[in-house]
Amino acid sequence: MIRLRAPAKVNLSFEVLGRRADGYHEVRTVLAAVDIADEIELREAGGLSLTVEPEGAAPVEDNLVLRAAALLRDVAPAGAGAAIVLRKRIPVAAGLGGGSSDAAGALLGLRHLWEIDLSDDALARLAARLGSDVPFFLRGGTALAAGRGEELTPLPQPVERFVVVVVPEEAAAGKTERMYGMLGPQHFSDGAPTGEVARRLRAGEALGGALYNAFEAVAPAAYPSYEGLRAAFADAGASALLSGSGPAMFALAAGETEAEALRERLAERGYDAWAARLLPGGTV
Ligand code: C5P
Repeated sequence: MIRLRAPAKVNLSFEVLGRRADGYHEVRTVLAAVDIADEIELREAGGLSLTVEPEGAAPVEDNLVLRAAALLRDVAPAGAGAAIVLRKRIPVAAGLGGGSSDAAGALLGLRHLWEIDLSDDALARLAARLGSDVPFFLRGGTALAAGRGEELTPLPQPVERFVVVVVPEEAAAGKTERMYGMLGPQHFSDGAPTGEVARRLRAGEALGGALYNAFEAVAPAAYPSYEGLRAAFADAGASALLSGSGPAMFALAAGETEAEALRERLAERGYDAWAARLLPGGTV
């Protein structure tokens, strides 16, 4: 039996450079893994099955974990199968990458369980077929991503060690595609904000106000929660930003004490927040 943790992410920067011929958008983003995590258990079994706990926390049918397992089984020894348990803790469709991380965890765990001789590069190519954020989660840590999100360059972790995250209720399946659809050329940029985030990380400088997210421009129209939540963070002394396509918002905190204090100030304002540590990268 293999048990592993599939962490969430936040985007320290997210830019769209333009539309691509394949229907996707050309992005520049800096992703950072945080220790809000799902748990995945994998056992050898006949066939492929998935149990989600708590029941209903994520869909079973069409779950990326099952799609990852099916893709990998095509290159596994005949008869390979697994009974998979997915314990959800990361809110679904929030902009925190939970489903993508679960898929990456399943790829890594099943490659091991089924003893498949598959290179890291080949695994990353399978990951990219499952979703634009899946390759990032094979290694985690902090990384710059280009292309659809699958061209990755590892970066040092931020000087700030914690994030404080609030996840509003309106998470909804299919919202990523919808959020991309709301972006027009006026929201496209040239990679400079992401370049500045990468520069500060490499120089060991605090990120401070360098965080950037192109979806901020359309978030007020997309998410009824957005303005109030942003104001609550500001009132609590922090500037917050969407993670990915939202609706989750986060602020950086220097350390655990600062994160806990911000979490409490948000709680006083009626917002249930998580304080989470930024995670170093593993090795695929
Ligand atoms: O890759 P993934 O399946 O996570 O993407 C979900 C949707 O988000 C895509 O169907 C596409 O509409 C949009 N997307 C995009 N450009 C990207 C990544 C995602 O337009 N780089």
